[in-house]
Amino acid sequence: MVIQLENVTVSYTRDSPVLKGVNLKIFDGERVFIIGPNGGGKTTLLKTILGSVKPVNGVVKLFNTELPKFREWWKIGYVPQNVTQLFEAIPLSVEELLYSGSVKGKSMKPSEALSLVGVEDIDEIMKKRVANLSGGNLQKAMLALALINRPKLLLLDEPTVFVDQTGIDAFMHILNKLRREWGLTMLIATHDVAAISTFASRVICINRSSLYDGDINTLISSEQLCNIYGFHVYSLRHGHRWSET
Ligand SMILES: Nc1ncnc2c1ncn2[C@@H]1O[C@H](COP(=O)(O)OP(=O)(O)OP(=O)(O)O)[C@@H](O)[C@H]1O
Ligand SMILES: [Mg+2]
Repeated sequence: MVIQLENVTVSYTRDSPVLKGVNLKIFDGERVFIIGPNGGGKTTLLKTILGSVKPVNGVVKLFNTELPKFREWWKIGYVPQNVTQLFEAIPLSVEELLYSGSVKGKSMKPSEALSLVGVEDIDEIMKKRVANLSGGNLQKAMLALALINRPKLLLLDEPTVFVDQTGIDAFMHILNKLRREWGLTMLIATHDVAAISTFASRVICINRSSLYDGDINTLISSEQLCNIYGFHVYSLRHGHRWSET
């Protein structure tokens, strides 16, 4: 098992918890999407899996090891939400950024990682400051950083927010390649419910402490479920933008 949450509760304040008694299992090779309204807890769930947010109750396991004992962080690639502001303050070139995330004996070269994610003009992009990249190239650089150690699990938080349709198609092409060639397990938080139609093997919906985990067809056939998780049945049934290629 790649990820396991047992009865996990997360609170930032004394108010009601953001995640309450969450149970979740994600198996090798699955492509699981997390959807739900703003503030529903998607980012919190990813941060809990990464150990940057500590649950007040429950157990989180990565690759069958409880989080406090887990050490093989190279096995996990993560692209956080909203990275743009972070890099305005940090004067790193793309090459330096990629070296900074490289684990000795595991990683590929920065140029290889950029080529993997479809960057053209690799030499030119490597020398650029991360803060000066276009939205599409920043997204590719972040994905290259997440992939540089050939991870087993990829966590993506809103990966397509600043990307146009051509960029989304190219991005999905890369994820499909990783699925086919690496058998990579992926957990992707998104508002882009159209994405789910063909690429997801499973979907999880979070709205605060309420969680749906299961089959896509059951979800889209239930108007009640769609109301709880804040999206429209239409966009799921008719969304075929992220098709398999
Ligand atoms: N560090 C924090 N301290 C206090 N409250 C927080 C913190 N981070 C998130 N929250 C609150 O927890 C709730 C869930 O936030 P989270 O960012 O996980 O939602 P999300 O589903 O990722 O939302 P979005 O779709 O906007 O990205 C929100 O009410 C948010 O305000
Ligand atoms: Mg979020």
